[in-house]
Amino acid sequence: MPTLHNFKMIQSIEVDLVIKNAQELLTLSPSFKDESGLGIIRNGAVAVKGTKIFWVGKTEEHSGKFILNRDGREIDAAGKTVMPGLIDAHTHLVFAGSRENEFEQRIRGLSYLEIAERGGGILSTVEATRKASFDELFSLGKKRLDRMLPKGVTTLEAKSGYGLSLQDEVKILQVMKALKESHPIEIVSTFLGAHTIPREFRDARSRYIDLVVEEMIPRIAQERLAEFCDVFCEEKAFTLKESKKILDRGREYGFKPKIHADQLSPGGGAELAAEIGAFSADHLEYISREGIKNMAEKGVAAVLLPGASFFLSMKKYPPAREMIEEGVAVSLATDLNPGSSMTESLPLMMTMGCTMFRMSPKEVIQGTTIHAAKSMDREKEIGSIEVGKQGDIVLLDIPNYRYLPYHFGVDHAELVIKKGKVVFNRSLSH
Ligand code: NIG
Ligand code: FE
Repeated sequence: MPTLHNFKMIQSIEVDLVIKNAQELLTLSPSFKDESGLGIIRNGAVAVKGTKIFWVGKTEEHSGKFILNRDGREIDAAGKTVMPGLIDAHTHLVFAGSRENEFEQRIRGLSYLEIAERGGGILSTVEATRKASFDELFSLGKKRLDRMLPKGVTTLEAKSGYGLSLQDEVKILQVMKALKESHPIEIVSTFLGAHTIPREFRDARSRYIDLVVEEMIPRIAQERLAEFCDVFCEEKAFTLKESKKILDRGREYGFKPKIHADQLSPGGGAELAAEIGAFSADHLEYISREGIKNMAEKGVAAVLLPGASFFLSMKKYPPAREMIEEGVAVSLATDLNPGSSMTESLPLMMTMGCTMFRMSPKEVIQGTTIHAAKSMDREKEIGSIEVGKQGDIVLLDIPNYRYLPYHFGVDHAELVIKKGKVVFNRSLSH
C-alpha cells in the first residue's frame, strides 16, 4: 500500500521533457511485446528527466506519474512516429579531399582494387589528410555531422585510418575528440591504423605493423584517444595473422576489437572476429557459412554497409537473411568515406538494407538502433526507449515505422533530442 507521503512524492517528481500522443512509439524494448517486434506503443508517451528516460507508456496512463517542470517542454506527437535516436555504427568521419575522379573511373569499368593499385584509393585520401591542418579536418568533420543530425542520428562510430603515421593518426583522433566535445552527436572513436600499408612502408610491411603495435597503440591508449581498435582484414590489406597480432596488442592496451572482414574476398575474417571475441565484424560480403555460425555463437554483431555495395556496384551482397536466421544481431551503417561510400544518409542505408539485402523494415530499424548499439558496446545506454537509458529520441513526421525506409531520399526527422535536449528542430532550421 503506498502511503500518502509516497503518493505525494511520486506525483511531485519533475521531468524536463514529455512527448505525448505518438501514433507509434517504437521502444525497441523487449518489455513491450507486440507483433511488430519493435515494442510499439500506440498513442505512446515518453518523459525525460535530465539526460535520462524516466517514464514510457501510453499517453492515457501518464497522469500522476510525474509533473512537468516549470521550464520543461511538452511535445505533441499526434499522427507521428517516435523512435530512439539513430546510431551509425561505422563511419570514416575525418578525412580531407575527395575522389570523384575514381567514381568516374569506376563507371567506366575500373575496379576499386585496380584504382588502388594505380595509386588512387585509400592512399590518395591519406595524402590529402596528412596535408590538412587540425582546423581544416575539424571543419570538414563538423559539416558531415551537421548533415547527419537532421536525419535523426544521435550517435556514431568514427574511425581514424587516413593518417597512417603516429602523428597523423593522433591528429585525426584528436579532431574526433574535439568534435565530440562540441557537437550534439556523440562520437565513439576507433583506431584504424591498420587500414592499409602507407606508401613509405610499401616494401617493409612488417615494419609498419611494428609501428602500429609498438608505437601507435601504446600512445593512443596513453592519450585515451580511442575505445575500439579495428583492422582492414583483406587479401590486399592485412592478413589474418597480422590482424590478430594487431587486435591482440590492442586488447592488451584496453581497446575493444572490431574487424573490416570479408569485404572483397573470402578470407576467414568473420571466423577471426568470433575467435577473438570482437564486438563487430563489418562488411561481410564474402562471409562463409562457418563464419556466420561462429559469429552467432559468440554474439559478434554484423555491421553491413549497403552504401559500399551500391557505390562500388558490387555484384555480391552480404547474406543478411542467413545471418538473421542464424541469430546474428545485424546492424546497418553508412561507412561514410570518400572512396567506397560517400554519404551521410543512414535512412538511405535503411532503404537499401530492404531492397538490396532483403531485410524487413523492422530489421533495418533494429539495425540502426539496438543492434547498432550492441556493435559499439552501448546497448545499456542507447538504442531503445527504456527507463534509465539516455534520452536520445527522434520525432518523425511519418504515420508509421514502415514509412521510414519506404519514403526514401528525404529527411523525415522533425525533432532530434540528445540526452534530453532538443538539438535539431526542423521548423527552426529554415
Ligand atoms: O570501409 N574497407 C576499407 N575501408 C573503407 C574504404 C576506404 C576508402 O576507399 O577510402 C571501407 O569501405
Ligand atoms: Fe569502412
